[in-house]
This record gives sequence, C-alpha cells and structure tokens, in this order.
Amino acid sequence: MPGLYRSSPGGPVYVRNAWYVAAWSTEVTREPTRRIICEIPVALYRTRDGRAVALEDRCPHRGYPLSAGRLVDDAIECGYHGFTFDCEGVCVRVPAQDLIPRRTFVRPFPVVEKDGWIWIWTGDPDRADVAKVPDTHWMTDPAWATVTHSFRFECRAELIHDNLLDLTHESFIHTSTVGDDYIYRHGITVVVDGDVVTADRLMPGVAAPPLYATTMQLEGLWDRFHCTEFHAPSFHALHSGITGQGRPREEGYLIKVMNGITPIDAHTSHYYYAFSRNFGVDQQWATDELVEGLRTVLQEDADALAWQEIGLQSRPAGEFDVLIAQDAGVAKARKVMQRLLAAEQGAAATGLEPVAT
Ligand code: FES
Ligand SMILES: [Fe+2]
Repeated sequence: MPGLYRSSPGGPVYVRNAWYVAAWSTEVTREPTRRIICEIPVALYRTRDGRAVALEDRCPHRGYPLSAGRLVDDAIECGYHGFTFDCEGVCVRVPAQDLIPRRTFVRPFPVVEKDGWIWIWTGDPDRADVAKVPDTHWMTDPAWATVTHSFRFECRAELIHDNLLDLTHESFIHTSTVGDDYIYRHGITVVVDGDVVTADRLMPGVAAPPLYATTMQLEGLWDRFHCTEFHAPSFHALHSGITGQGRPREEGYLIKVMNGITPIDAHTSHYYYAFSRNFGVDQQWATDELVEGLRTVLQEDADALAWQEIGLQSRPAGEFDVLIAQDAGVAKARKVMQRLLAAEQGAAATGLEPVAT
C-alpha cells in the first residue's frame, strides 16, 4: 500500500525552497514508486534514457495516485481511467475523448541525481540551484567505502536535527557501539555560516569506541573528534574519526556520515544514511560488521526519537525545552530554521518553539 497522506494540524512547517533526498538512485526505476515528501505525494520514475522524474502523485481527474499506474514510454498512465502525463506533467492523452481539459496537468519537480542520491526541490522551480545540492562525493570516491541504510523515523524531522547536533546522547543510547561517558565531558564549538551550522567536539586521549575499534583494529588512546555540519533544512555531514594524539585530523581514520533528513509529515520522517570510511576499504568483513553495527545505532536513535515524539505530543502548549550548553548547536540550528521558514511564510506561521537569543 502507498504511504498515507496526513496533514499537519498546525499548518505547514516545512522549508519548501530546498533540496531534500527523495530516494536512493537504486530505488528509482522503470516501475513508478511513491514517496511523501513534506506532505506532498510524489511519483518517481526513470525515462527510457535513465533520467529521474518526479511528478505530484495525484491524478487531476479523480485523485488516483499516478504511481499506481504504469509507464508508457517516458509518460505515466493513470491506472484508473488512463489519463497520461509526460515528464513535465503535461496531459498528453485522455482515452475517453479527444479533448484534453485545460486544467489537466500535474506538478513536476526539479530533480538532481548525484553520487547515488536523488534530490528533489519542493519549492519555486525557478529558485532550484543545482550548486546547492550538498557534497556527497565520498560515496563515489574509490579511496572510501560506503555503507547505507534507510529508515522511517516515527518523529518530526526537527528531532533528528537536534539528535545529530547534540551527540552527547551517544553516551546513553549507543553504549555498545559508539558511546562512552567521555563524550558529554567534552564541550563543543559552534559556528554558523549562512544556512550551515557546525558543532565540533574534540576528545583528546581517549579510547576508540567499540564499533570502530574492531574495524580500525585499534588499541590504546587516540584523539577522537566529531563535527556535525547541518546544512539547513535537510542534510547533515558528520565529519568524524580518530587520529594519533596531537596529530592532524586528516592523518587519521576518517568517517563521513551523510544524513538526508526528509520530512514525511508533522510526526514522521525519512532518514537516508550513508557512512563512508577511508580505512579497511577493501575489507568485506569490516563492511559487514559496520552494516550490522550501524543498523543497531540507527535503530537505537529511531526508538529514542519515537519515544521523544510521544513525549512531545503530550506536552502542554507554552512548555518548552530546557536547553543547556551542550545544546548550543541545537539552538543555533533552530534559529537558522526559523529564519528560513519566516522568509517563506512569515514569522508568525513557523509553528516552532521560540529560541532564546
Ligand atoms: S483518476 Fe486518473 S484517470 Fe481517472
Ligand atoms: Fe544517535
């Protein structure tokens, strides 16, 4: 069954003029597939020459999802009464009559395919700037090996942004994989540059976390670091790793975690996760171990954030988060999100918590 459409009770709370991950490249084929992205149903498919296409997934005739139909050459034919639309959403056939009514079209979305990701622009097509698609080149660089996962998180996207910007949760949620008490004992440095918020933590002279110690084949003490780079509103690049004590980061065992966070609706999100490493690149056993270990990490996050979503839904209006120093990245990111939302919708309509200045 296709995903259901649920509208936000408080009105729209999405930044529309942005690139969101719509799918992995491998998921977009000659069989149409459906995604809900910021409450918009989208049909994704490929043309015969391999170009990815995204059309609003609702037939203008009587609302049937086009993704439940079939492809006819590069067009998509509605499975209910056969109205057919080309890649630009223009209706090219109404089987029961020669006349095509003027309102018969579906909305096409700009799409970019890069490094195995399919990105969709949900706002004004004239503002879709391909240069703003985040850098994910590690996924196709042979000097790096990549593991991917996709999850459906039962929480609003903002909770995932907070989660990635405050990694002290690793000490409590990910104890068997990447967590350790030393994480919350080290502070962060936060920098805002336009729509990018960076939260950097250096942890000198510590042991490697259990999940990496095996795959890196490490013992002893190292300098560990993780630097979350939030590209508001939809993507985080986590530059993380381990290096010799006092040595430059780039000499070390490096990890690039790419996180595509795509809202489904007010309480559900798609999470596209890629973990690229520059060590043990040809070692299949390390890849296999990371596939399982990272699945555990993501499931732990998914479970925690589902609980947090339940907690927040019962929170009375007017009661807000108690932020601490470790939330500096969270607070800055919320301000950037509010600015982006306000620019599109007006400050009063953002529906987000106030953030202290
Ligand atoms: S609903 Fe699509 S053709 Fe009738
Ligand atoms: Fe986590």
